[in-house]
Amino acid sequence: MYSLIRKGIFSLDPENAHDLTIKLLHLAARPPFNNILKALLACPQGMEKTVMGIKFKNPIGLAAGADKNAEAIEGFAAMGFGFIEVGTVTPKAQEGNPKPRQFRLIEAEGIINRNGFNNRGIDYLLENVKKARFDGVIGINIGKNKTTPLEYGKDDYIFCLNKAYNYAGYITLNISSPNTPGLRQLQYGDALEDLLKSVKARQQILARQYNKYVPLAVKIAPDLSREELVIVADTLRRNSIDGVIATNTTIARDNVAGLKNAEQSGGLSGKPLQQKSTEIIRCLQEELKGEIPIIGSGGIDGVQNAREKIAAGAQLLQLYSGLIYHGPALVKQLVGSIK
Ligand SMILES: Cc1cc2nc3c(=O)[nH]c(=O)nc-3n(C[C@H](O)[C@H](O)[C@H](O)COP(=O)(O)O)c2cc1C
Repeated sequence: MYSLIRKGIFSLDPENAHDLTIKLLHLAARPPFNNILKALLACPQGMEKTVMGIKFKNPIGLAAGADKNAEAIEGFAAMGFGFIEVGTVTPKAQEGNPKPRQFRLIEAEGIINRNGFNNRGIDYLLENVKKARFDGVIGINIGKNKTTPLEYGKDDYIFCLNKAYNYAGYITLNISSPNTPGLRQLQYGDALEDLLKSVKARQQILARQYNKYVPLAVKIAPDLSREELVIVADTLRRNSIDGVIATNTTIARDNVAGLKNAEQSGGLSGKPLQQKSTEIIRCLQEELKGEIPIIGSGGIDGVQNAREKIAAGAQLLQLYSGLIYHGPALVKQLVGSIK
């Protein structure tokens, strides 16, 4: 059934297909469509897991970027996700990079995107989050505006943290998108230390103000070397970060060379990222030894790879590209098999 739908979707430009999907999911969240969707895609119950101090009804989540403005939470929820990460959102709305900026690598089941945090800004996203009816966890993934100089990037994260705190199940600092110039530098040395110290201090103030603790996760790139990963892990630990998402998209093209669209700049996701992100999870786990929970993301396309990521040390999983190539039945399949 999905192979037919996929044919239709793949006849459109990737970003137009995405925008149309968001609109349809927005509609599908209304009765009676929501009940039909839920009945079709009903997921097994009893897969609860507590991670970062939060109870997840199942460990399968929607990765950031699919619902940047939180416009289709209920539609994605009907697919059975235990958690949905919306964003990346920035303080102010921004257009992102010129189009086209998304490309399919069909033979490899990969996607390259260089969207550049196109989004309608934190206020718009929060209005949607407030309205959403979802019994799972909503993560809010935050970033910096392109026009904010890197040395003031911290201010953008704090701005979004302040605004999102009361409405998020957890908050993710995205410092690993390859499509905002300089952003990945925040993963290194003093820049990382300074950012984490500041957001952690702000989290403590907000926890007192709202009388609740909202965990902070950091999303990292798959392109860090082992040595860099050791330093990142140590910095996360010293700053008592609550979770780490491994990984974002890769700038490497080693296993897609020669394929159509492989030369496009941006971040590569999907199957070509699968092994690389699993290796990063394994290295992180060796360093963190369970002290900080790992959320695994990168090329999850079936039960086998999902199990590999769990075996490597991930406690929760997120997917995006797999949904495009395999359809929403993948969520149901994973929820039923992954603990
Ligand atoms: C079109 C597209 C847009 C994305 N946008 C974001 C984003 O805004 N923020 C973010 O943290 N990750 C973003 N990602 C990365 C995904 O969240 C995910 O970490 C990555 O794609 C690996 O998972 P996958 O192979 O299942 O897609 C995006 C991915 C894709 C394909």
